[in-house]
Amino acid sequence: MSIDKNRVIVFDTTLRDGEQALQASLSVKQKLQIALGLEQLGVDVIEAGFPISSPGDLESVRAIGLALKKAIPCGLSRAVKKDIDACAQAFEGLERFRIHTFIATSDIHAKDKLKKDFKDIASMAVDAVKYARQYTDDVEFSCEDAGRTPIDHLCYMVEAAINAGATTVNIPDTVGYTLPIEFGGIIQNLFNRVPNIDKAIISVHCHNDLGMATANTLSAVQYGARQVECTINGLGERAGNCALEEVVMAIKTRKHYFKDLYTNIISTNIARTSQMVAGICNEAVPPHKAIVGSNAFAHSSGIHQDGVLKNRETYEIITPQSVGFKENNLHMTARSGRHMIKTCLTNLGYSEDTYNLDDIYARFLKLADKKGQVFDYDLEALLFFSHDDEKETQFSLDNLNVISGGKSIIPTASVRLKIGKRTRTESSTGNGPVDAVFNCITKLTGLRCELTNYTIGAKGSGMNAQGQVDVDVMYNNRQYHGKGLSTDVIEASALALISACNAIYRTQLIENQKEQQGENNVKGV
Ligand code: KIV
Ligand code: ZN
Repeated sequence: MSIDKNRVIVFDTTLRDGEQALQASLSVKQKLQIALGLEQLGVDVIEAGFPISSPGDLESVRAIGLALKKAIPCGLSRAVKKDIDACAQAFEGLERFRIHTFIATSDIHAKDKLKKDFKDIASMAVDAVKYARQYTDDVEFSCEDAGRTPIDHLCYMVEAAINAGATTVNIPDTVGYTLPIEFGGIIQNLFNRVPNIDKAIISVHCHNDLGMATANTLSAVQYGARQVECTINGLGERAGNCALEEVVMAIKTRKHYFKDLYTNIISTNIARTSQMVAGICNEAVPPHKAIVGSNAFAHSSGIHQDGVLKNRETYEIITPQSVGFKENNLHMTARSGRHMIKTCLTNLGYSEDTYNLDDIYARFLKLADKKGQVFDYDLEALLFFSHDDEKETQFSLDNLNVISGGKSIIPTASVRLKIGKRTRTESSTGNGPVDAVFNCITKLTGLRCELTNYTIGAKGSGMNAQGQVDVDVMYNNRQYHGKGLSTDVIEASALALISACNAIYRTQLIENQKEQQGENNVKGV
């Protein structure tokens, strides 16, 4: 396959490196939704998971492999046969897929983690690449902790992996330790010293521990790397991975500096993909996050506003529209028909195969009845809000009444829940209306969890905003998250706690199943 030398391949690992850092893992359906969104964004390779880590992971990697039409699905494996076999099993029958195999090459990982010397590691890597090549001619090899690997070892490893058949060799800065000039220097050294380097694509995978992930990635690109590994919103282990939107927009915005390099990313799909991932993963985008934060295009100071009014480019190097932020000009009410909703979703860039119109329309009508007018961000929330009704649900809110007011009134709530097939009601007082509601839910579910975090925010702006409540609770030494969205913040609070209780219930179900089946113990990289 001939690859244009100016094209930078975008390899997304939101579903592997990103997902492994989430508090709660995603369902197959949620992963599929993200994978299809990434494909629409124009991502070239999608690392869908780590199939050996659990039967569930293998199942979702397979489902994603089957669903992708354009992007290449990829599965991760350690440099051992059973991991590679699991990847091959996940992709069995597919025409195109990538196996990504890795082993650590730094002295500290070799000595203290793997307890092997470099020679043994190099031979395991070569064997793994050769073994993976029996399944596919698209094999990526990664030298884990390359950023701290002695350069002679790294050169040796890259050459050996390419000779063994690796078509992509990845140089990760696994612990986000290097600085841009240093990391670029490593890539430059590889290009100067490894004789067969032109036989493979050199990739980079930078973590953000010192806030250098994007800078290091771009520095590597300048020195010849032609694959960048990233995640949406920079999700990932610890301080996260390199953010896809940052690298892509830097290459695009500074095109001349990067000597006409380009990616296949459709930049106008960035904002939507970012919001989708944030919603599904329950990881809000920080307001000041470059490119996709809510503040990324806001101009506050008088001088800036004056400048922007005269010429936007005085303070804006990219337009919000170029990454897909849209003007809020949709007027949807309970009188809007399905066609209107479909058109609005199409205008927002969602193709029909990424949602179920009947389901969205039914939920839209409920919301429109409550809110009057529904906005584009509401529709997106309906799409990506993780609804308990799509998962195994034990508890759902049937009715809620609250009395609360001045000092003389003791806040009192009564809550009716559907629990499995039954309905039960409880009342309780509390130190405030939310506390009273939470006390009722605790009595009804029997789940005595400790509330460790409660945040309330607005989805949308002004009087038309919906309240979004996020709660974190501890139950049996594990943390669970729940989210509720409603025009009434007390109801949003109740929905958030109920959604956390459903998460606890689901975990208990899975654990019971695991106890019965026994399970492979690999958890992540
Ligand atoms: O950070 C890392 O080194 C990784 C590898 C598995 C590529 O995630
Ligand atoms: Zn990583």
